[in-house]
Amino acid sequence: MRIGVFDSGLGGLTVLKNLYKHYPNNEYIYYGDTLNLPYGSKSKEELIGLASNDIEFLLTKQVDIIIIACGTVSSNCLEYLKNRYDIPIYDIITPTINYLNNSNYSNVGIIATERTIDSDIFKKKLIKNVYQIKTPKLVPMIENNNLSDIDNILDTYLSKYKNKIDILVLGCTHYPIIKKHINKYFNNKIDLLDMSDPILPLLKEDNTSNITIYFSKNSSITIKQTKNILELDNLNILEKTEYK
Ligand code: DGL
Repeated sequence: MRIGVFDSGLGGLTVLKNLYKHYPNNEYIYYGDTLNLPYGSKSKEELIGLASNDIEFLLTKQVDIIIIACGTVSSNCLEYLKNRYDIPIYDIITPTINYLNNSNYSNVGIIATERTIDSDIFKKKLIKNVYQIKTPKLVPMIENNNLSDIDNILDTYLSKYKNKIDILVLGCTHYPIIKKHINKYFNNKIDLLDMSDPILPLLKEDNTSNITIYFSKNSSITIKQTKNILELDNLNILEKTEYK
């Protein structure tokens, strides 16, 4: 099966990594729209336009299904995209919500982009005490690999909620990249939920193995970060414009 996975940039690679770890025998085509990053502060209309372009690019690669590896697009555009495209489309927020509603957690914190929190999707769909936290500074720091101030930034965002929550949802796919910093902040005392885990049961194994990665804009940081995140050598990392 050819699986198309997309995000605004590097974040969706955390999803790709988990998919590949559990189902290495599939063909994955990844697309990160680094040219238009960040998505988290865009309007819904802009997000719909960008996500449609992302899907149309993946369709040119003959993918069989699409995984929206982006919390912001999942929370704002899912219905529109499902209606518009005649291909199975999976988002990463629905399985996360189902997982949490079937869990024993009572107090759920969510860190996510501005637009994901503004959609109120977690508040509307979770039957739990929900604490929604906008964390807009994290994506640019992660994309630029500039984490020198990360402990202070996490403290600013999380100190108010530290003793109130028993699980923290990493509601943006970029955040697993800084998981060890977040764990350190909480002294490993609370569970962190990576949204790429609850989607795993939706997929199955095939018999060909391959990963191709496209970005709308490649830079040396992007390429280096991609290799670090995926922990794979010999990756095929291309720029969309050259190969469309
Ligand atoms: N990784 C994305 C998300 O899950 C988008 C982050 C961004 O571009 O702001 O929301």
